[in-house]
Amino acid sequence: MSDQHSHQSFETRAIHAGNTADPLTGAVVPPIYQVSTYKQDGVGGLRGGYEYSRSANPTRTALEENLAALEGGRRGLAFASGLAAEDCLLRTLLAPGDHVVIPNDAYGGTFRLFAKVVERWGVDFSVANTSDVEEVRAAVNDRTKLIWVETPSNPLLGITDIEAIAGVARQAGVKLVVDNTFASPYLQQPLALGADVVVHSLTKYMGGHSDVVGGALVTADEALGEELAYHQNAMGAVAGPFDSWIVLRGIKTLAVRMDRHSENAEKIVEMLTQHPKVTQVLYPGLPEHPGHEIAAKQMRSFGGMISFRVEGGEEAAVEVCNRAQLFTLGESLGGVESLIEHPGRMTHASVAGSALEVPADLVRLSVGIENVDDLLADLRQALG
Ligand SMILES: Cc1ncc(COP(=O)(O)O)c(C=O)c1O
Repeated sequence: MSDQHSHQSFETRAIHAGNTADPLTGAVVPPIYQVSTYKQDGVGGLRGGYEYSRSANPTRTALEENLAALEGGRRGLAFASGLAAEDCLLRTLLAPGDHVVIPNDAYGGTFRLFAKVVERWGVDFSVANTSDVEEVRAAVNDRTKLIWVETPSNPLLGITDIEAIAGVARQAGVKLVVDNTFASPYLQQPLALGADVVVHSLTKYMGGHSDVVGGALVTADEALGEELAYHQNAMGAVAGPFDSWIVLRGIKTLAVRMDRHSENAEKIVEMLTQHPKVTQVLYPGLPEHPGHEIAAKQMRSFGGMISFRVEGGEEAAVEVCNRAQLFTLGESLGGVESLIEHPGRMTHASVAGSALEVPADLVRLSVGIENVDDLLADLRQALG
């Protein structure tokens, strides 16, 4: 983050960091520089440091500065998707023979990237319950290069103590990567807790309106940021100018949206915990959640994601998803509109049969910012 923004509060940074008025016209919103190349004033005479939009583009730069400021990092990098960001990170940090510790509860696509792509290049991994600090410590070996953490996790809402795992990583001399997609930087600041890199699917809360796919990396350290920027350009899966712009626009309301997501989720959790058809509610805001105290320590509030288990098994869970009307049946999360899904058959179908398999009776909600009474009425009718 530049010193200009370091004294500002989160809400102010969300609106102003990277969003300087256009030097040519004074436009208060950065333009969409929908351009691939830039006129040079004589060979090598670059006007604003830009030469080709894979290497850098002013709209993407605006977003990248904003991301670094929001996560309290030195460098932000924006990619075409969350998985493109993860791929760039893994292929920058890892080489054949290396080992990685990954969580036993993570986004299915992240697991697929490790198990079907990265492993083929000679990198192996151990799966650990990252909520258990000693299990993570035991999973680290002399070839380990990084520990991967997702908290809250997708879809089981498990909580990992970032500060404690950062201690394990530091002691072992390995990097700690935190996927901060579910919390967003408004609710949780992994770099301040000792992480080296934050990963985002910008597709989710950061964009916030289910209208863009994007990803990001933010580093605590300038040198690692430089190395990743080199690979970002060399590999090429960058965020385009329009996608960067729409995420930058979404981020301006991140704080108010996250407050409402959390408030609505808490009221829905209250109803679900009392519903006779619901056998378990997974939400870090619940005092009985095993990660509640850690979540309360490292998060501002508990977020808009809820999972719950339904009496009657897989078919009953699928039926609840099918009956919902205001909750749209669909993959993804983090938009202003509420979504419902069956992880076992949808977002997490790719982990079936692995250590990351999810319960068949699980339903996942992404609670939007609609009127909560309407959301409660829809869920009650869907549960039957
Ligand atoms: C926690 C988490 N990380 C990463 C990703 C991957 O992001 P994308 O779909 O933008 O590639 C997702 C997508 O659902 C996710 O939920």
